[in-house]
Amino acid sequence: YSLLSHNTFGIDVYAKNFIEYTSVDELKKLIAQNAFTVPFLHIGEGSNLLFTRDYEGLILHSRIRGIDVVEETDEFVTVRVGAGVNWDDFVAYCVDRNWYGVENLSLIPGEVGASAVQNIGAYGVEVKDLITEVETIDWQGQERIYPVSECAYAYRTSIFKQSDNKTVFITYVHYKLRKQAHYTLDYGTIRQELEKYPALSLATVRKVIIDIRESKLPDPKVMGNAGSFFMNPIVPYTQFEALKGEYPLMPFYELSDGRVKIPAGWLIDQCGWKGKSLGPAAVHDKQALVLVNCGGAKGSDIIALSDAVRASVRDKFGIEINPEVNFI
Ligand code: EPU
Repeated sequence: YSLLSHNTFGIDVYAKNFIEYTSVDELKKLIAQNAFTVPFLHIGEGSNLLFTRDYEGLILHSRIRGIDVVEETDEFVTVRVGAGVNWDDFVAYCVDRNWYGVENLSLIPGEVGASAVQNIGAYGVEVKDLITEVETIDWQGQERIYPVSECAYAYRTSIFKQSDNKTVFITYVHYKLRKQAHYTLDYGTIRQELEKYPALSLATVRKVIIDIRESKLPDPKVMGNAGSFFMNPIVPYTQFEALKGEYPLMPFYELSDGRVKIPAGWLIDQCGWKGKSLGPAAVHDKQALVLVNCGGAKGSDIIALSDAVRASVRDKFGIEINPEVNFI
């Protein structure tokens, strides 16, 4: 079964088997029929994966759809959303209804289920602050609802990313959104870009975010990629101070625990990698945090480039940058 249309990197690999299901009942039936042969891997849209070889097992994909209001007050609305709903369709749905919260996460590739695995974030918003609970079934049919407090959310990670939880499938995610105006506009150039528009609204914020993303991030339909390839490294304050002394222009975000997050894109850019290629893999010319498939790249080509980039950053800055993308 070709996985070409199931990974945004556009890596041409095959899986032995592939199953899609459209409801919790169908999933339960598959479990009862012992359809889940080992090894298996549950994927979303494949926008954060790098296949390094053919997958000798079963790939699963949820097509559970639906967006339903489960609770509503004058101030808030809580919605239950199927894991297989396209993330940006959900954002557009909220913006249309004047529900505040997810607009800064416009145009992030992927599906609702993956948003809860990965704790997607952008422009000052992380989805963990909107999720209230996550409905799951494990591969033996056991259902469990995780309140957000049990999801172990942190920067781009959760309990669902831990290796012993790969057998837990997310079926629905609940998000609590505001009905009264509430914006997060302090990241980067958002405020500045909004000045182009006569009035502030959810629709204009969405438009601005989409424009910023489209100007920097390559369209996977045109050039294979998985968004940010690396996580932004977090360093102790003393190490940050020393670096800042040497590189006064280095951008940074101070975290509440005293440590400092440094943009990996800037580090890679400073190493001269932006727009450079190694074989059929390249560092995107508008955002150095993104690695792209120039056409026909294999997983190993992307890894070779990733290793070279990591070595440069290590040599120049003494900082280890780690992939955000999952290698399969
Ligand atoms: N920068 C450079 N050169 C580059 C790229 C970035 O100098 O080639 C500098 C920028 O000028 C800026 C800083 O680095 O001062 C940060 O850049 P940017 O605002 O573009 O964000 P980022 O840290 O590179 C993160 C997320 C993105 C998210 C943006 C906006 C991670 C790993 N990445 O990128 O998420 O869209 O912030 O919030 O946290 C993704 O996860 O796939 C993703 C795209």
